Amino acid sequence: MKVLATREYPGPALGDLTDLEVLPLAQLERTRPDVEALILANEPVPLDLLPSLRIVANFGVGYDRIDVAACARRGVDVVNTPGVLDAATADLAFALMLAVRRHVVEGDRFVRTGAWTRSWAEGGLSDAVTRSTLGIVGLGRIGAAVARRAQGFDLRVLYTQRRRVDTELAEFRELDALLAEADIVSLHVPLTPHTEGLVDARRLGLLRDGACLVNTARGGIVDEPALVAELVSGRLRAGLDVFTNEPHVPEALLGLPNVVLTPHLGSATRQTREAMTRLLVDNLLAVERGDPPLTPVPA
Ligand code: 8YV
Repeated sequence: MKVLATREYPGPALGDLTDLEVLPLAQLERTRPDVEALILANEPVPLDLLPSLRIVANFGVGYDRIDVAACARRGVDVVNTPGVLDAATADLAFALMLAVRRHVVEGDRFVRTGAWTRSWAEGGLSDAVTRSTLGIVGLGRIGAAVARRAQGFDLRVLYTQRRRVDTELAEFRELDALLAEADIVSLHVPLTPHTEGLVDARRLGLLRDGACLVNTARGGIVDEPALVAELVSGRLRAGLDVFTNEPHVPEALLGLPNVVLTPHLGSATRQTREAMTRLLVDNLLAVERGDPPLTPVPA
């Protein structure tokens, strides 16, 4: 099976593919009837240029930029990488919570700029993570991994999602109630037409003064200009790994002390990224053998 990968994905697994070509989609200019499989990272699929395509393997769990319905109409399977990135993403959500609440990045700047000639306490005490209230929006695999970590910090954990589940990990709240009650809100829903702009200006207004919003999911879930306004005013704090129009980060955030910014690092550990490539390659090998894909995205 001829496989096109839009870049060199990490780890040794790509080496198991016998007929692999690496080509960024921007360089795919002519029709390629030889290509049967495509490995990409949440990019629009050029179905017109790939008439023999059988499977799209998405390097990531979120597939908001892939038209799965159009692929299904053409008989093209889409697979993604659920599970293997839960821990890394949950770890980063915690890293952001801790960094924002405990002034880790601000403190680092204080030291590096030589300002530590006076006590940091003059710059303001931080708020504890331990024993505060965490609101998880979306208790799927990653949200649940965050909830499990929260137990170690004695956090009170609330969750919201469309389908209520029976769980010991967290107490259910409607979204608005969760936003009003939590000290820290962490987003873990996929970007879909239903969740786009879910945390809008009105809902941001429900957050308590000084509350911390952590987003390791997708920028588009939050009304970004409204969030920027809240952060510029200093009323809220945030740890943001994702943005509406990456790699663009709103200029107004760059100088703010109450925001920690990372460049979409949720799954970016060596171990996780290698496991993601492995899972995609195993999917392609299964399909090549005539078996069903291992981790299909529902059409
Ligand atoms: C990216 C992600 O896919 O899994 C997701 O949904 O956003 C990430 O894992 C990864 O950064 C590659 O672009």
